[in-house]
Amino acid sequence: MLNFRRQFPLVVAVALAIVRIASAGPMQEDVKGRRARVMDKLGPDTVAVFWSAPPRIYSNDVNYEYRQDSNLLYLTGIDQEDTILVLMPGNRTKREILFVREADARREHWNGHSLTPSEASVASGVETVFTANQFEPFMAGVLSAQGAPGLPQADEAKAFFDALGQGRANLALLLEPQRNLTETPGPARQFAARMRDRFFGFQVKDATPVLAGLRQIKTPYEQAVLRQSVLISTEAHKAGMRAAAPGKWEYQVESAIEAVYLNNGAMSWGYPSIVGSGPNATILHYEKSSRQMENGDLLLVDAAANFEGLTGDITRTYPINGHFTQAQRDIYEIVFAAQEAGIKAAKIGAAPDDIQKACDEVLRAGLVKLGLVTEPTGRQFKIWATHGVTHWIGMDVHDVGVRGKPLEAGMAFTIEPGIYIRDQAFNDLPKTPENAAFIEKVRAAVEKYKNIGVRIEDSFLLLPSGVENLSAALPRTVADVERFLSESKGSR
Ligand code: GLY
Ligand code: MN
Ligand code: MN
Repeated sequence: MLNFRRQFPLVVAVALAIVRIASAGPMQEDVKGRRARVMDKLGPDTVAVFWSAPPRIYSNDVNYEYRQDSNLLYLTGIDQEDTILVLMPGNRTKREILFVREADARREHWNGHSLTPSEASVASGVETVFTANQFEPFMAGVLSAQGAPGLPQADEAKAFFDALGQGRANLALLLEPQRNLTETPGPARQFAARMRDRFFGFQVKDATPVLAGLRQIKTPYEQAVLRQSVLISTEAHKAGMRAAAPGKWEYQVESAIEAVYLNNGAMSWGYPSIVGSGPNATILHYEKSSRQMENGDLLLVDAAANFEGLTGDITRTYPINGHFTQAQRDIYEIVFAAQEAGIKAAKIGAAPDDIQKACDEVLRAGLVKLGLVTEPTGRQFKIWATHGVTHWIGMDVHDVGVRGKPLEAGMAFTIEPGIYIRDQAFNDLPKTPENAAFIEKVRAAVEKYKNIGVRIEDSFLLLPSGVENLSAALPRTVADVERFLSESKGSR
């Protein structure tokens, strides 16, 4: 079950109280609706199987904290290993069947209680729950049209059995991407191959696009949880801003941020915190947090919590002494203006690529103006603006979605332009006369701006009324950032 494990401390509770999701009821209603929509899309000729994630080894005999498979979590809300969901949309009454692991007193002494079938039923809203050892005979009965244990009525699975008899049934799975023929197939593909060896009358179908399309549109319940998740993350960023100062270490900022997650009932971070000061701000996925910060540094912090399964994505870049230098400000203002242009482009009916184009135009023009780029058109500016500026957010920080689908209400995404000036970037350029001329022309500007890295990233939700910046509580303009830092100076 999703982890509603802590109450908020009073101080943040005041800010968050309105959107607190207190009971498991709305979650169960929501996951029921998600399963119904998946079944609608899969159709009555289909049996679909979804597995929980395996545990993952940290080192030797210690595992990482368990992370449920996002699709299984999306469909059941159950955060437990050895869980399998079967959907049979054509069944008369038992269209959802869940399998959970058997009770084991010794394991539960070591690792904690496992949901019994009846507890799993309450947690997920799935009425028919069996233990995991019944999965094999169940599938064998279904795919051989013999009738499965647990589906006793003769006509319960008639629609699927008819489809099987006529050779038009589907076995829908989340098939792992297969890049080439020599790569070992993942567990779902291996399962499909084993079923194909033994049974007939069905095709294997990839359910990945169905899940991606549904997860892309957040339900009102998900919107409320995501809003709260991002609110916790904005509180965390503020704590990080208060903790940052010359002489402090990056890990001290990280610790201030992550304490706010745990203190507010978030399950964990949504992705490892990036806390990069000085030259580390130009490393996109810097995770070490091991540098002592110096007066004059900019600090880039990209961090967000996983709260009840949903993750925002936020970056702020700020001067740890409270004041941007002129050079830092030059870069920051371009990134800020690019993000503003991206926000304007984020409208219902627009393409995600319109956001990219809007940001790119501002980034390119700004970089030309600073003398860091010589070409006012084309892709030369990508040497300093190296990553895409938008992606979906949700159960995964880089969430799933249907590529190229126009923006619609319920979609959640980032807008995150960035500029990173690294003189090593010249080494990546092919040694051509044109590139040598480019390097000569921009060398002085690169000398001036080198080691400055700025990203500004907010988490957005598109609503019928327009785009909502979920992380708007966090200072973003130069003036607001400097004001916040100066006001928090007393506590730093
Ligand atoms: N935090 C990873 C990203 O911004 O995409
Ligand atoms: Mn991002
Ligand atoms: Mn990010």
